[in-house]
Amino acid sequence: MKCLIALLLLSLPLLAGAGDFVDLRDAPAIAGDAAAGAAKVTVCVACHGAEGNAVVPVFPALAAQHPGYLYQSLAGFRRRADPASPMTPQVQALSDADLRDVAAYFASRRRNAPAVSAPMDSPGARLFHDGDPQRGIAPCQGCHGANAQGHPLRGSAPRYDYYPALAAQSADYLAARLRHYRDGSQADTSNALIMRGIARNLDDAAITELAAWLASTPRDPPSGDYP
Ligand code: HEC
Ligand code: HEC
Repeated sequence: MKCLIALLLLSLPLLAGAGDFVDLRDAPAIAGDAAAGAAKVTVCVACHGAEGNAVVPVFPALAAQHPGYLYQSLAGFRRRADPASPMTPQVQALSDADLRDVAAYFASRRRNAPAVSAPMDSPGARLFHDGDPQRGIAPCQGCHGANAQGHPLRGSAPRYDYYPALAAQSADYLAARLRHYRDGSQADTSNALIMRGIARNLDDAAITELAAWLASTPRDPPSGDYP
């Protein structure tokens, strides 16, 4: 009994913080207007490239990313208003409808083919598909899909649209993101907390291998109308 009370006391700070994140498990589906969004991205494409096909490795590609993920990512930048993030000034003046529209626009764009094609037997591919139990690395495909196109259950419930596709993303950006999940303290959504738990066991070698394979894996074209 004493033990139990001590345990409860120890876990109190954790429990107290448990309500401080945005729970995306029951978040509703996001709808935006891609055509309206096209008129609102003039400033974005200066960094993220024409139609979201970034060419400078530090800037993430946005083309063909899932709209729900893009929207939540933008809403997060606006909510946190971190002065250190280059994204903070970009989203401060945007309304919620603007965020949905630009998310719909970038999601509707085709991602350019990677410059290098993906070797399926590379160490990164093996880690992605099978993980490495000895190092405590979970297989990534369970949540990001066998070809890194997004959650395998996407389309069955809104929450799976909040899982990003990783294929054809910039390797530098992916590696920086993984290090940030692993080493950073900031995680203010249920999804960021999930990914922080996964990244905890990634060493630098694993991050480099995973990022290299993902960056060289082609991204499927967006479904639906493609003007
Ligand atoms: C000055 C350059 C710059 C401009 C302009 C800019 N961004 Fe960004 N954006 C960045 C950088 C750098 C990151 C990576 C930030 C990070 O990792 O924290 C980023 C990250 C993002 C992400 C997260 C992507 C992901 O995969 O999680 C989205 C979405 C995004 N930007 C959308 C936009 C939109 C929409 C606009 C225009 C309203 C815009 N950006 C304007 C530099 C820019
Ligand atoms: C249990 C589910 C789960 C597993 C397993 C998982 N992820 Fe994730 N991952 C997520 C979720 C959810 C997000 C969105 C997090 C957010 O919104 O910040 C994410 C986001 C990411 C991002 C950020 C993408 C971007 O555009 O910024 C990267 C990179 C990533 N995951 C890589 C991996 C790798 C590599 C593995 C395997 C070692 C992996 N993930 C395993 C759930 C998972």
